[in-house]
Amino acid sequence: MEILVAKSAGYCYGVQNAIDKVDDSISKYNKSIYTLGPIIHNKQVIDKFESQGVFAIKDIDETSEGIIIIRSHGVQPSVYEHIKSKNLEIVDATCPYVKNIQQKVEKYYKQGYQIIIIGSKEHPEVVGVNGWCNNTALIIDSIEQAKNISYYKKICVVSQTTIIQENFSQIISNIVFKSKEIVIFNTICKATKTRQDETKQLSKIVDAMIIIGGYHSSNTQKLVNICKEHCNNIFHIETYKDISLSELKKYNKVGITAGASTPDWIIKEVIKKMEKEMNNQENVQIDFEESLDESMVRIKPGEIIIGDVISISKEEVMVNIGYKSDGLITKNEFTDKKDIPLTDLIKVGDKVEAMVLSLNDGEGNVVLSKKRVEDKKAAERLNSAFESQEVLYGKIIKSIKGGFIVDLGIKDVFMPISQYHVKFLKDPESVVGEDIVGRIIEYNPQKNRIIFSQRVVLEKEIKEKKEKVFNSLEEGKTITGEVKSIVKFGAFIDLGGIDGLIHISDLSWGRVKNPEDVLSKGDTVTAMVMEVDREKEKVRLSLKHLVEEPWAKVFRIYSVGDKVKVKIVKITSFGAFAEIISGVEGLIHKSQISYDNVENVEDYLSIGQEVDTEIIDMNDDKKKIGLSMIALQDKPTKKIESNETVYKEEDDLTLGDIFGNLFKDKE
Ligand code: F3S
Repeated sequence: MEILVAKSAGYCYGVQNAIDKVDDSISKYNKSIYTLGPIIHNKQVIDKFESQGVFAIKDIDETSEGIIIIRSHGVQPSVYEHIKSKNLEIVDATCPYVKNIQQKVEKYYKQGYQIIIIGSKEHPEVVGVNGWCNNTALIIDSIEQAKNISYYKKICVVSQTTIIQENFSQIISNIVFKSKEIVIFNTICKATKTRQDETKQLSKIVDAMIIIGGYHSSNTQKLVNICKEHCNNIFHIETYKDISLSELKKYNKVGITAGASTPDWIIKEVIKKMEKEMNNQENVQIDFEESLDESMVRIKPGEIIIGDVISISKEEVMVNIGYKSDGLITKNEFTDKKDIPLTDLIKVGDKVEAMVLSLNDGEGNVVLSKKRVEDKKAAERLNSAFESQEVLYGKIIKSIKGGFIVDLGIKDVFMPISQYHVKFLKDPESVVGEDIVGRIIEYNPQKNRIIFSQRVVLEKEIKEKKEKVFNSLEEGKTITGEVKSIVKFGAFIDLGGIDGLIHISDLSWGRVKNPEDVLSKGDTVTAMVMEVDREKEKVRLSLKHLVEEPWAKVFRIYSVGDKVKVKIVKITSFGAFAEIISGVEGLIHKSQISYDNVENVEDYLSIGQEVDTEIIDMNDDKKKIGLSMIALQDKPTKKIESNETVYKEEDDLTLGDIFGNLFKDKE
């Protein structure tokens, strides 16, 4: 035997809501609890509540104390007034769908419309609704009655929530011409319609149908009637005790449905009983209980569910969520992109993940939100990114007062202008559209404060870069960089994260008046690392130390007596300084310039002039070198002009010279 259980079997939202309110009242109040009429048309549930001290009363006057629970069918306004006049407490379990009908009726009645209710005169829901138009409604439940309605100026039509859709349509078609102005509300509960549609489909494909529900339940009775139209073997039962297994065994395929007031446990009991019996049979094909659980989707507010899109309108998306009612997502709860049509964002058949906001929007739909799921996920994602200091990619989409809106893909967040960069930003508009990387530096969803910063990431990068450069620096080793700027006292070299300074005195061993004589901005230079101060982030570089110290070089390659061509670089009263090699100058004392009596050096030498000299003195300690021009010249012959020749020590004459002179004079 194959058993098929209708998905919508069992409690509807309104009944479940009423049952929950009774349960709540039992645990909350220490008072007598009464329901105004049986809370549902199910004897077993009523018995259970009675055992817990909850009793059904027909009239308010049956009690003078306690809590009065108004059941899902709702009541007339006069009933509320009556309860209040007796100072009794009210727990209102009117189904929101029914409440919606009452409000419509009250509104249109006040506007002068003749109210017509399509439904059963005796049904408590209809009696209650009629009260909201001062009991003036025309209540009809047949085409005949519809045809006989008089002409009214303005008509407003509503229906009992549990009537059959086809009946409603037929009756409406006979009312529409009964007024110049007619407002029609199809207030058949969607849960009812879904249950009836499923029952109809199921009854068409099975050999027998079991309908579980109170014998006095109107909605269960309607299910029975629907089944009768499509299936020949109908079993209306209240509990498992009513099952005729010997009868059922004849059928290969059995369908099960249940009325809106049938609790799950009764349905399960029926299935258990069948299972027990069938387990003694061969070829049992179904775990009935599992089948029931699977078929009856249970959802609650806050839950995240996945459904299939079944229709899309301008303002909302309908979703099949496998529940008794479909889910509805309004555009506001679907997207922030108000300007984009919903049809551009999703299509029929797509899966959609959404959060249940409410099981009932007053019109029979489950209220869903796609945005809240995304917000929830975004919040979790952002929180985890904040906690782990994760770097996120985003795009600046807007410049606003004090900063920017950054689209992170998961959510738009705020970035203060100061957090854009380490450098000052002059024109905020100029960076709109820019892709950036950054981190959440403040996350406080309660205060709606989520702060994004690119600056912290850049600062970290700079720090790491500096660290890397510092780690690569070694005093005495060379490094290559670009001349970033030139100042009076030297040149700054960009080493890729930090700047090193070549002081003017380190540019050359020779004299440098202006650093620009040696380097230009943008030059690539290789310099020697002289000193690294990590704390002060200072690096001293030198160009001159890349070449041999010139004094050392001079002392290495020259000796006293060597001839050397030099360039006059400075003239003083006592002689001239001449460059031997770059950075080393020697002194040509004025006595060494010429055999003449040199009084004014400039009469003999000029700056830039190159002259041949001989090294006559080298003092390594004092770094002094004496040069002589006359050492390379022939000594002049002294002419004795009179008998009174005066010989001076500095004339450096030998005795031979003197005698020669004397002899010359005699000649
Ligand atoms: Fe149930 Fe309310 Fe509909 S009581 S059948 S959900 S109108």
